[in-house]
Amino acid sequence: MIEVSGISKKFKTKKKVVSALEDVSFSCEDGKIFGLLGPNGAGKTTALRIMATLLKPDSGSVKVSGYDTVKQSTEVRKRIGFLTSDMKLSGNLSPDELMNFFGELNHISKEQLSSTKEQLVRYLGMGDFVNKPVEKLSTGMKQKTSIAVSLIHNPQVIIFDEPTNGLDIISSKVVTDFLKDFKKQGKTVIISTHIMPEAEKLCDTIGLIFEGHLIECGTKEELFKKYSQDSIEDIFFALAEERGLIKNV
Ligand SMILES: Nc1ncnc2c1ncn2[C@@H]1O[C@H](COP(=O)(O)OP(=O)(O)OP(=O)(O)O)[C@@H](O)[C@H]1O
Ligand SMILES: [Mg+2]
Repeated sequence: MIEVSGISKKFKTKKKVVSALEDVSFSCEDGKIFGLLGPNGAGKTTALRIMATLLKPDSGSVKVSGYDTVKQSTEVRKRIGFLTSDMKLSGNLSPDELMNFFGELNHISKEQLSSTKEQLVRYLGMGDFVNKPVEKLSTGMKQKTSIAVSLIHNPQVIIFDEPTNGLDIISSKVVTDFLKDFKKQGKTVIISTHIMPEAEKLCDTIGLIFEGHLIECGTKEELFKKYSQDSIEDIFFALAEERGLIKNV
C-alpha cells in the first residue's frame, strides 16, 4: 500500500525556481497497479523518487506499507523495488554478479538468492546474457538487468519509472506481464509512463499529471464514464486543453 498525501517539491536553480510537484495526493492498494501518466517534465520521476526515499518533499508525506518515507526511510527501502531511468549500468560486472552484489547488500541468504536469481533470469529471458559484462549489453538487456537487480530482495512494493523505456514490443510484453503477475501476488505496483495506451491496458488506477499538478485520478472505468470518452489519451488532451495547459496544439 502506498499513500501519497499532498506532496509538493520545488527545485531551485541559479536562474529560476521550478515547481515540479504541487499538492499531489493519490494512493495504491495491495494487488493493484497505479500508473502516473504525463508528458516530459510533468513531475513523474520526482514523485517516484520521493516515494522511493531518494528525495524529500518540501511538504506533504508518503507512506509505504504504513512507513513514512522521510522518518522511516530504512523500513521503506527494505520493502520497495525501485527502477529508475537515471540508473545507467556500466562496467565489466555481469548481470549475475550484479544480482549477487545487491542480494548480499540486502542480506539475502545464499539459497534465497539463488532461487530468486533463477526465477528472474527465467522470467525476464536473461539466460543468453546473464554472464556477459553489462557494458557489452544492448539497451533492452541492460533494462532487464536493472529490473532484475531492483527485485532481488523480493519487495512488496514495486516503483518503476518508465519500465518499458527502450524495450521492443516483445520485451515490453515480458515486463508488463511480469507486473501483472506481481499484482496477482498481492503486491503494490506503481509505474510512470508517457505511453498512454500501455498504461490503459495495464493499470487499475490512473493519475494524469501535467506541470506538477495531478489533474485527474481514478479507475479507468470512472474516468471513461466521467468524461464520456473511451481513451485515456483523449481524456488527457481534453483536460489539459480545458485548463490552458497545452500551448500550440
Ligand atoms: N534535480 C533537479 N534540479 C532542477 N530541476 C529538476 C531536477 N529534477 C527535476 N527537475 C525539474 O522538475 C520538473 C519535473 O521533472 P521530472 O523529471 O520529475 O519530470 P518527468 O515527468 O519524469 O519527465 P520525463 O517524462 O521527461 O522523464 C522538470 O521541469 C525538471 O526540469
Ligand atoms: Mg522521468
